[in-house]
Amino acid sequence: MEVLINADPKLSKLDHLFVLLAEGDKPRIAIAEKAIRKALDDSRFSGRSDESITILGGEPRKLTLVGLGKREKLSIRCLRAAIYSVAKTARKNRDRAIGVVVPYVIDPLSADQTTRVAADALAQADYKYDAYITKDKDEKPPAITATLVPVDGIDAKRARIIETGARAQSEGIRTVRDLGNAPSNLLTPTRLAERAQQVAKSVGVKCTVYDKRDIEKMKMGGLLAVNRGSAEEPRFVVLEYSPRKAKQHVALVGKGITFDSGGISIKPADKMEEMKFDMCGAAAVIGTIEAAAKLEIPVRVTGVIPSTENLPGGSAYKPGDIITMMSGKTVEIVNTDAEGRMILGDALHYASELKPDHILDYATLTGACVVALGNEAAGLFCNDDKLARKLIECGERVGERLWRLPEWDDYKDLIRSEWADMKNSGGRWGGAISAALFLKEFVNCPSWAHLDIAGTAYAEHETAREARGATGAGVRVTLAFLESLSQS
Ligand code: BES
Ligand code: MN
Ligand code: ZN
Repeated sequence: MEVLINADPKLSKLDHLFVLLAEGDKPRIAIAEKAIRKALDDSRFSGRSDESITILGGEPRKLTLVGLGKREKLSIRCLRAAIYSVAKTARKNRDRAIGVVVPYVIDPLSADQTTRVAADALAQADYKYDAYITKDKDEKPPAITATLVPVDGIDAKRARIIETGARAQSEGIRTVRDLGNAPSNLLTPTRLAERAQQVAKSVGVKCTVYDKRDIEKMKMGGLLAVNRGSAEEPRFVVLEYSPRKAKQHVALVGKGITFDSGGISIKPADKMEEMKFDMCGAAAVIGTIEAAAKLEIPVRVTGVIPSTENLPGGSAYKPGDIITMMSGKTVEIVNTDAEGRMILGDALHYASELKPDHILDYATLTGACVVALGNEAAGLFCNDDKLARKLIECGERVGERLWRLPEWDDYKDLIRSEWADMKNSGGRWGGAISAALFLKEFVNCPSWAHLDIAGTAYAEHETAREARGATGAGVRVTLAFLESLSQS
């Protein structure tokens, strides 16, 4: 939804005012003071996290108090949950103009940061992928405009800056969610590249799309091997955002498997439909660059996206095959379902040749990472402690958790091959780690981070905080990182 930030909106213009309150707390709120006091006195509202009460009549016409849970336990998570429930209620009520009062600063964030998190959560809160729902077209609830009433002390000028920042970020995240949720019959590698081109054009970013012949010329053996089982052509996309004042250069690499059947080492049917999300890393790169360009962040950013389907066609690559990658290293295939690392190996080699200051890659790479961390944190693998610390800190600030896992050479035995330089799978145990070690073989950059977003890129079911489907994972933490680079 559209989000404005205004400390003093006209109550008569709002259909519905929502006030977020912590348990047993009565913060000073400058607007609708009387109505809120009366609502609190008349009801038994306590502020528990799943609680809400609505009072009708008066000014504003509808007033809803929404519980945030205990004051000491306030977190980005519970703020997001409360805001998601606000959007649901507003939708049900067919409200057009709502106000949302967030009278707290979340520790350890600043007032500005808290407001940015709230604005971002609001902007995403009514997202629904309904492009292909044909019935009830005219019954869609009206578009909602939300006015966020921030905590005291945010003046109009800062409000404008946060508002614009949150809007740019939110448009990038929307791009990621739309791309991620799109079905693989419609979002083929060719189409993904076209979408990247459209987005790039809209924000003045350079975009080069390499087709199969170009990819052959570049000798991207990993990408070509995975592509062999598919009737769709592969694509390799390079996005270049080069602001004039940039001092640093960051390469973002994203896994763009538009559908992962597993190939000859085919996956079980159960939940295979979720493998349309296997391009969420690529989508995160596109959405992040879109937002970075809109925000005019003074850091040079190059996006690198290898894209193909992974299918078991008649000429598919097979277990036992030996593949020569773009870098010249050879790989013995033991499992065709370990395809992400094959296309990323080439993309990371390509990115390394650009000699950027940092390389960050995003991939729905392993089920093992989901086994280890579930859906609350992405796995972080990093060859640079300083970069790792910075990324983790940025993630904490924007509510996108990263948890570091080791990329020690101690695990390298797992991918040792007798017939080639390495195998493409290290088996089940430590599966996220051996995948990261495989990638590392193709990285030539002293500051590289790999984010395994298999557990965070999409929600299997609706949660208290967001809709089912693609989440936009990667965008928030990366923008925070790019912004921090521009400030240092
Ligand atoms: N795309 C999958 C990883 C995945 C699994 C993402 C579940 C999201 C949810 C990846 O290509 C894959 O199949 N990985 C294999 C690797 C194995 C064969 C070494 C896996 O995790 O099982
Ligand atoms: Mn796979
Ligand atoms: Zn995959």
